[in-house]
This record gives sequence, C-alpha cells and structure tokens, in this order.
Amino acid sequence: MQRFDPIPSKQDVDFIINVLDLPEGGKVLDLFSGVGRHSIELAKRGYKPIGIEYNKEYLNIAQSRATENNVAVEFLHGDVRKVDYGSDFDATIIMYQSYGYFSDEDDENILSKIYFALRKNGRFLIEILNRNWLLKNFVAQEESLFNGIKITEERDFDPKTNRVNFIIRRYNKNDVEVKKGSWKIYSADEMTQICNTIGFKFVAGYNDLDKSPLQENTRLMRLVFKK
Ligand SMILES: C[S@@+](CC[C@H](N)C(=O)[O-])C[C@H]1O[C@@H](n2cnc3c(N)ncnc32)[C@H](O)[C@@H]1O
Repeated sequence: MQRFDPIPSKQDVDFIINVLDLPEGGKVLDLFSGVGRHSIELAKRGYKPIGIEYNKEYLNIAQSRATENNVAVEFLHGDVRKVDYGSDFDATIIMYQSYGYFSDEDDENILSKIYFALRKNGRFLIEILNRNWLLKNFVAQEESLFNGIKITEERDFDPKTNRVNFIIRRYNKNDVEVKKGSWKIYSADEMTQICNTIGFKFVAGYNDLDKSPLQENTRLMRLVFKK
C-alpha cells in the first residue's frame, strides 16, 4: 500500500520519460491510474496524461491532488476493459503490477486496445511482477495492519494457469470483508510473445529505475514495447 502514498513518484517519472522517448508535451495514457501518482507528475512536467481508474475514492484523491498541484489532468472513471481510450497517444503506461487480473482474453484485449490507441512508433511501458522471482520468493500467508485494521492474505499458485489465487480478509470493527480473486503472473518472454502477436515490437526490459538490464531475479520487470 505504500506505493499509493500521495507523494508523487518523481523517480518513476524520470524513468518513464526517459524510456518512452516522449516528445515535449506528449500525450500519455495512464491505465489503472490509481491516485494519480504518475499522471500528476507527468502533467507537472508539461505532458498531457489521461488516467483511467475504476475506484472512485482513488479518482477523487487524484483530482484533488491535481488541483493542489495546479495541473489539469483528465481522469476518466471506468473499467479499462470497457472505456474507449481514444487515439494518437505517444505512450501508454501500466504501472505497479496492475495487469493480469482478468481472463486471458480480456487481458489481451486491453493490450490490443492500447496498440490501436498509440500513434505509429508510440511506446508502451508495463511494470509487472516476474514469475521467476515470485516463485522463488512465494509468500503463502501474510498479515498486515492498514490504518489500524488487520488484513490477512492467503495465496496459492496454480502452475496449470500460472495464476495466483488469493483470499484477502479485512477485519473491520463489526465484520470481516472477504475478497477472493486471482491474477496471472508472466515471464518476460511470455509477455513479449503476447505483445508480439498483437503487433508490438520489444524495445527493452529493465530491472530497476536506474535502467539496469532485466535479470532472472528481477522482482518488478519494466518492459518497453513500441508500435
Ligand atoms: C496496483 S494499483 C496501481 C495504481 C497506479 N498505477 C500506481 O502505480 O500507483 C491498480 C489500480 O487499478 C485499479 N483497477 C482495478 N481494476 C480496474 C479496472 N477494471 N479498470 C480500471 N481500473 C482498475 C485499482 O482500483 C487500482 O487503483
């Protein structure tokens, strides 16, 4: 949850601008934009981000942060599977393990929509967990405190589907909220093959924001493709 801290991610955005080879004032589609960590910082630097986010609470935080920072960012409320993205983007970003939550078909449709929304040579950056890392560092049970509320998470990995199934329990004062779901975990090679099938060309894979190259043990892979 730390990554949703309202402090802008300046280092992330330095990296984003660098690897996406953004033209001055370029148009950036920020899918699963959360509380606007990246869109707001991009807008502060003169780019034109459009964020798409499903959670209204996060969108409200993002809007007020944009106002506080005196920047205009277009935040759209909706499900990335359904919203029309528009066209002519210089780049698209999916930051912080936000991909793989839907069916394989729905997930791949999102990539196709990104492809069609980009201009020619436009770039796509996706930041996702590396399956090699995850399997070596798998945590089946976890307990944490968020704003004084106990949260537990149980996970198991299904090798037939490459999905992690999870059950999250949130122990509120008067009840326990239970959320079940699964997300697909990719290797760099699989993600590249899927993107290639859609038409993307692989540009580079990074281990970290310092642009060190992807390694077998990279935790969060940053993969860059171009149209
Ligand atoms: C892991 S967070 C990452 C947020 C942001 N990219 C960042 O790095 O701060 C994933 C975000 O995706 C949003 N989300 C989940 N399902 C969505 C959907 N179908 N359409 C749009 N946003 C969705 C969640 O509400 C959450 O804000």
